[in-house]
Amino acid sequence: MTAESEQAAFVRAVLEGRGRQPAGMATASAPANLALCKYWGKRDATLNLPVTGSLSVSLGPLGTTTRVAVAARDRLLLEGRRLPARSPFAQRLWRFLDLFRPPGVCFHVETTNSVATAAGIASSASGFAALTAALDKLFDWHLEGRDLSLLARLGSGSACRSVYHGFVEWLAGSRDDGRDSYAVALRQRWPALRVGVLTITDAPKPLASRDAMARTVASSALYRAWPEQAAEDLQVLKQAIAEHNFVTLGRTAESNALAMHATMVSAWPPVLYWQPGTLEAMRRVWALRQAGMALYLSMDAGPNVKLLFLAGDEQAVSEAFPTVRMVAPFDDEAGVDC
Ligand code: DP6
Repeated sequence: MTAESEQAAFVRAVLEGRGRQPAGMATASAPANLALCKYWGKRDATLNLPVTGSLSVSLGPLGTTTRVAVAARDRLLLEGRRLPARSPFAQRLWRFLDLFRPPGVCFHVETTNSVATAAGIASSASGFAALTAALDKLFDWHLEGRDLSLLARLGSGSACRSVYHGFVEWLAGSRDDGRDSYAVALRQRWPALRVGVLTITDAPKPLASRDAMARTVASSALYRAWPEQAAEDLQVLKQAIAEHNFVTLGRTAESNALAMHATMVSAWPPVLYWQPGTLEAMRRVWALRQAGMALYLSMDAGPNVKLLFLAGDEQAVSEAFPTVRMVAPFDDEAGVDC
């Protein structure tokens, strides 16, 4: 079976005979998410099945809004600008849409992000989650969150978590058919939690996270330690969330992110996303922590830095990082707009 036919069979199984005739147009939004325990490594690259479970917090108003309409021919607008069909972003999006496309139907897609694209701020996560939710409306499927999560996962693994707001766990699952690998929303809330987004650069990253991930799994000796570390971090984080233990949450999230980057640096050829500005921000976080502030950092597969802190430190954080974009993840918990 080709990768496309395996994915198409997965989609058919999730949709269970629901209508395949889209009508009119539909719009949906989904939040970006920051993984506190990262998804890093796949056990199946066709179905995006992860080696380990992961845990994220959705970034409220930061994310993607996507409009899909039935049209005379395929057309994709990103931030209002037409994207050539051969651009990597467009190819990935059309491959995903082809999984749902009835014969002879074309789509007009318009997508806008409130965060930089391809610079490690989870734009593919919110992008595929918003697109899946828009398709759900366009085809009138009325899927529940679990099924939206299963479908969004095919576009990008981390997208399965962007189906929900708040804390979200992606259950790794163990089945070969991937039907038990989806995200669930945790019921705990933490209104005082803050995430700061420091954009070091919004230039496209040199290597897509999926390529960095595959290279790491194939060549990094340190990756052998990752599954055990991630499983332990996941449990510690869930406990820290349940107890609102911020020091444990911050420390575990920061060391999980640094451990992920260590596996990349030890891959061959090495993958290093950090820029001088990344290191500068890291050192500033560590100095502030040394001085007593409960401030921690995380990073995805890119040079940008995310800060974790509590509401009481908002002012101190904006003084130390004047360009920081603050997010209160629990201010808006409506879930994917669908
Ligand atoms: C570092 O979800 O972008 O952000 O499934 O290949 O599309 P694909 O990968 P992707 O990887 C995200 C990796 C990460 C960690 C995370 O979000 O958990």
